[in-house]
Amino acid sequence: MNEIREDFPVLNRKIDGKKIIYFDNAATSLKPIQVIKAITEYYEFGTANIHRGLHKLSEEASIKFEKAHNKTAEFFNAKKEEFVLTKNTTEAINTVMYSLYTSDFFEKGDKILVSKAEHHANLVPWQMLEQKGLIELNFVELNEDFTLDLEDLENKLDSKTKLIALAHATNTTASINPIQKIGKIAEDNESLFLVDGAQTAPHMEIDFHKLNADFFAFAGHKMLGPSGTGGLLAKKELLEKFNPFLYGGSMIHSVELHKSSWNKLPWKFEAGTPNISGMIGLGKAVEYLSKIGMNKIRKHEKELTKYALDKMHEINGIKFYCPENEEKQVGTILFEIEGIEAHDLAITLDEFANIAVRSGMHCAEPLVSTLNDKGLDRASFYLYNSKEEIDVFIEALKTISKSFK
Ligand SMILES: Cc1ncc(COP(=O)(O)O)c(C=O)c1O
Repeated sequence: MNEIREDFPVLNRKIDGKKIIYFDNAATSLKPIQVIKAITEYYEFGTANIHRGLHKLSEEASIKFEKAHNKTAEFFNAKKEEFVLTKNTTEAINTVMYSLYTSDFFEKGDKILVSKAEHHANLVPWQMLEQKGLIELNFVELNEDFTLDLEDLENKLDSKTKLIALAHATNTTASINPIQKIGKIAEDNESLFLVDGAQTAPHMEIDFHKLNADFFAFAGHKMLGPSGTGGLLAKKELLEKFNPFLYGGSMIHSVELHKSSWNKLPWKFEAGTPNISGMIGLGKAVEYLSKIGMNKIRKHEKELTKYALDKMHEINGIKFYCPENEEKQVGTILFEIEGIEAHDLAITLDEFANIAVRSGMHCAEPLVSTLNDKGLDRASFYLYNSKEEIDVFIEALKTISKSFK
């Protein structure tokens, strides 16, 4: 643990003599020095565009970019043609939406099924299709323990449901959905299945081919990679079949005045100059995660979650909005303390103890606004967090909760 923490310079930073406790990992992760160095090395010694120049710098950059690209695909056990670099999860989901839309995949009256707990990134793109009068959006309910109601999912499926789009784990309730099982249900119903993996890719082993999903969107920046990185994993035959999302340079094979043909995969879906330093940094991030092992990371986070939940129960007036079971959820705890507004608590934790948590609607307003119209607080853990940090957090919560009474 100490060795891992040494790799994250922010964890050594002090403000007002106190270290920072970073519990906002569901928003974005800290970056290890290995990732930071890989990015600065590209800018310091190797800046060049890729896939075009014949000079040494360009060739070097192209090789580094492609190596990192392949390594990232491998990390998810996907084929190299099945990984498309995007700038975040949102762009990955929008890529699917636009590709399906411009390929006339949907017919008027078709349905898309999402849950009531989706991040805006996996809701608003589909709303656009509904507002065009093309599809009808349907919503799967949650059970009392904030897990997905699978019976409701099956009841809401019919032959018009062309797409099921669900978070693998939500960024609010943290509940892990049984993706393989839902993938089988989707396949039997002949629906496409998109998984929003923003909250699982950083925290557990993902084998794209075992998921039974057609699309898997994730955020590189939440898994130790640089800001401005994310990705889409998609079955090769679907990327071959559907239209690209963005059009222009790099994604073409040949261009005439009135028509063009597309580059081979995955470049068909990566138009223009990509985030070269970002891809190189993400390659380093997956190398770092693989070295530690995703199963070890999951085990560590389960321990932290159980530890934190047990201790947080000691606080008067605390209420949880998650399964409260480390087997059923990722290391994210959505909560409130009676009598303290979410933002007040988050600001006080920061001012009083340098503890970074998130407060508010968590980009999941349809759900969170029904739980508390002033928002909720969220503490989310990652591989570098420790039980000692949780102890400081609990003490701070106890003190703040007393002072607000
Ligand atoms: C479940 C989920 N989906 C999508 C997103 C959007 O991710 P990004 O900011 O990478 O676009 C997030 C971000 O918090 C998320 O938690």
